[in-house]
Formats: sequence, structure tokens, C-alpha cells
Amino acid sequence: MAVLKILVIPGSLRTGSFNARLAAAAVKELALANVDVTLISLGDFPLPIYDGDLEEKSGIPKNAVDLKRMIEAHHGVLIVTPEYNSSVPPLVKNTIDWVTRVRDRNETLGQVFRERAFAIGAASDGKFGGLRVLMALRQILALGCGATVIPRQIALSFAGQAFDDMDRLKDQRDADQLRSTVRQLIDVAQQMM
Ligand SMILES: Cc1cc2nc3c(=O)[nH]c(=O)nc-3n(C[C@H](O)[C@H](O)[C@H](O)COP(=O)(O)O)c2cc1C
Repeated sequence: MAVLKILVIPGSLRTGSFNARLAAAAVKELALANVDVTLISLGDFPLPIYDGDLEEKSGIPKNAVDLKRMIEAHHGVLIVTPEYNSSVPPLVKNTIDWVTRVRDRNETLGQVFRERAFAIGAASDGKFGGLRVLMALRQILALGCGATVIPRQIALSFAGQAFDDMDRLKDQRDADQLRSTVRQLIDVAQQMM
């Protein structure tokens, strides 16, 4: 069987981002499971705010096409996002919106999402751990994009206190939540290979 490839996308560009740290912890967990894991920063794929006139005039930005190719090169995707005003930050939503506009020949709408397993996670300094952004992101990916989003998810609350100085999760329940989500993503992505 080919080596399983998983793409990890943090949804924040902030220096010291809790979500980037959680994504890095997920990368370690995936690597321990012998997954070929790629961690990217959306800072390397800057995109203008989606505007139909811009798309009409200039076409789809290369960074959106490159991101879609990146997703295509993996069997599964983990998105780890902050919660902004109980929902999805513009960085994450705008990126997804642009990627859904990339249509290749002989491809049906949303094929790149449908054919891959997605997992979602969130880190917040609040007590709900970004549960509301997880609901919103699940809806966007599953309902909007037709993706298979695994049932398990990571909601890391009190994220400011959650990591030790090696960026490991201090609380066993948090570590278990991360591990079980990663394992389910691996299982489902393998089934879809
Ligand atoms: C515009 C804005 C809205 C926010 N809304 C929420 C929210 O609804 N729920 C929440 O838990 N945190 C909220 N936060 C706090 C973020 O969770 C916090 O800034 C977090 O550290 C961002 O993630 P990061 O550390 O990965 O950058 C908000 C922050 C900003 C800037």
C-alpha cells in the first residue's frame, strides 16, 4: 500500500498562534504513526478577498491553484483554526472559497474535497475550545464542499495554558483528543485511498 499522505493547515498566521502550535502537535502525532505529513502556512499562499469581478478579470490566483494541487497530492487534510466571533476566520473561509473556484477539466464540482478525508480542530483560550467554529467549518466543508469530515475533532480550551515548554499538550485528555482524532483521520483516509 502507498504511504499515507496528510496535509496539515493551521488557520492562523499570528506569531505564537495556539492553532499553529496545536497543528504542530498533530504533525508530531501523525509522524509517529508513519504518515508522510506536510505542514503548510497559509502565509505562503496569500490570496485577495474573493471577488467575482476580480476572478472574471484576472482569473483564479496561482496560489489558489497551488493550494488545490497541494490538497490533491494528499489523502487527507487536517485544518486547525481559530474561532472568530463564533465562526470561521476570514483567512480560512476565503482560502476555501478560492480553492472551490479551481475547476480542472474532466472534474466534477467539489471532487478534490469529496475524494479526501478531512479532520478539523480548534484552539481557543476560552472554555469552549472553539466548538462553534468547528460546527461552522464542518458545515462549510461537508455541506458546502461535499467533503468527508470525520466525526472526531479537537477542541482545545484554555489554549494559553495547554502547552508545556516543548509545545506538548500538558493535559492527558487533550492529548487523547488529539490522538484519537489523528487516528480516525488516518483510518478514514486509508479507506478512501
Ligand atoms: C476578531 C476576533 C474574534 C474572536 N472571537 C472569538 C470567539 O468567538 N471565540 C473564541 O473562543 N475566541 C475568539 N477570539 C479569540 C481567539 O480565539 C484568539 O485570539 C486566538 O488566540 C486566535 O488563535 P491563534 O492563537 O491561533 O491566532 C477572537 C479573536 C479575534 C481577533
